[in-house]
Amino acid sequence: MANSSLRSSTIISSRHQLVGVSPPSSDSGSFSKSLSFSTPLPNFSLKSSGNTRPLQTKRITPVVRAMEFDISLSPRVNSVKPSKTVAITDQATALVQAGVPVIRLAAGEPDFDTPTVIAEAGMSAIREGYTRYTPNAGTLELRSAICKKLKEENGISYTPDQILVSNGAKQSILQAVLAVCSPADEVIIPAPFWVSYPEMARLADATPVILPTSISEDFLLDPKLLESKLNEKSRLLIICSPSNPTGSVYPRKLLEQIAQVVARHPRLLVLSDEIYEHIIYAPATHTSFASLPGMWERTLTVNGFSKAFAMTGWRLGYIAGPKHFVAACGKIQSQATSGASSISQKAGVAALGMGYAGGEAVATMVKAFKERRDYLVQTFGELEGVKISVPRGAFYLFLDFSSYYGTEAEGFGMIKDSESLCRYLLDKGQVAVVPGDAFGDDTCIRISYAASLSTLQAAADNIKNALISLRPAVPV
Ligand SMILES: Cc1ncc(COP(=O)(O)O)c(C=O)c1O
Repeated sequence: MANSSLRSSTIISSRHQLVGVSPPSSDSGSFSKSLSFSTPLPNFSLKSSGNTRPLQTKRITPVVRAMEFDISLSPRVNSVKPSKTVAITDQATALVQAGVPVIRLAAGEPDFDTPTVIAEAGMSAIREGYTRYTPNAGTLELRSAICKKLKEENGISYTPDQILVSNGAKQSILQAVLAVCSPADEVIIPAPFWVSYPEMARLADATPVILPTSISEDFLLDPKLLESKLNEKSRLLIICSPSNPTGSVYPRKLLEQIAQVVARHPRLLVLSDEIYEHIIYAPATHTSFASLPGMWERTLTVNGFSKAFAMTGWRLGYIAGPKHFVAACGKIQSQATSGASSISQKAGVAALGMGYAGGEAVATMVKAFKERRDYLVQTFGELEGVKISVPRGAFYLFLDFSSYYGTEAEGFGMIKDSESLCRYLLDKGQVAVVPGDAFGDDTCIRISYAASLSTLQAAADNIKNALISLRPAVPV
């Protein structure tokens, strides 16, 4: 009879994963959820086999039974913070669904359609049956076109085996961080930063080291501060120029000073995120970090098609760097996603064929972005209690509204930080913008001006009206 009980137990085990009801235990964190069988179980008798979690011996009646299973997550995923932008985006979406005319200026994507010549290339790829796997690193055609672009536009020489094409620049960056960082290595990230950099460092079991910058210095990293924070654990410095979220563009002279600091630290590599390279407003110019003396060997240059070519949904980006590092990134990719979409790669070749810096089509989009930037800078410049660093690139305005913190808004409550201010602007002004603390700077909010001028005019009016009913708590 004992034997048959054990057999019964084994049978349930194999059919239902975990059987029996564990006694309440101290590790309830890992066994914290109970489920119910939807179907009645046969009348089995259970006994512990002795080498697993002790099972209560009791008769199971053919009714719905509680079952426990392990819902614990890996420490790696637990160390990653969820995106703070999600909360405001979800709230905005819920409001729109409820019929509230919310103006959404939170997204980091151009409002333009992909230029026709690129879209046509993608459609031709499908029509011509170019729909199979490509090499993991990307097609030779695209990698050769990327090499040509990097040589002509950025003054950096690569061969196709030093290029890895991925499903978006985001994947390129994550793979680079995973490829070069060992546990406890430090990833140096100037703040304000793109939301994913610190979390990617955490995913690699590395430690993000955040270096603050200030609005009065146009959010640019001070080389002296960098020098003071470097040590033997410093492995990767991430520079994003033009920057998301500030729109700052690093002048060549400052990059040269940073390069001099980097050169003194043999372990330190640089990841240069140049995805907004073409969205830049004269007289600002873009300098690729790898083009600076002595920096080619240490630099991983990331770029992509999402922003300049309005191709966010095509998921196409790339990394360029010394073969040793790029091959390591490729190894990760080969086990994760393999090559990027064959169709997108054909579209990418067409994009790079549109002329220097994307030719006329990109120039037209950049002109529109500049008009919008000028409008917003002027409009918010007239507002009491706001500090602005004029963006030189990308399509974001990172405004310091901290003088309004500490004010009580009627019918809303206290505005105490960037998150409550953004909730207030959503509530009162029906405009969705992103709190600066998502980017490591709680004094500011980020407005994306990837929206038509008339939409921005309506948004600016709403924001102004919402703020006018408040008074800056601290005069600026
Ligand atoms: C600074 C920066 N880098 C990289 C990316 C990733 O771009 P994608 O994966 O669409 O190529 C983004 C997207 O928002 C970004 O803002």
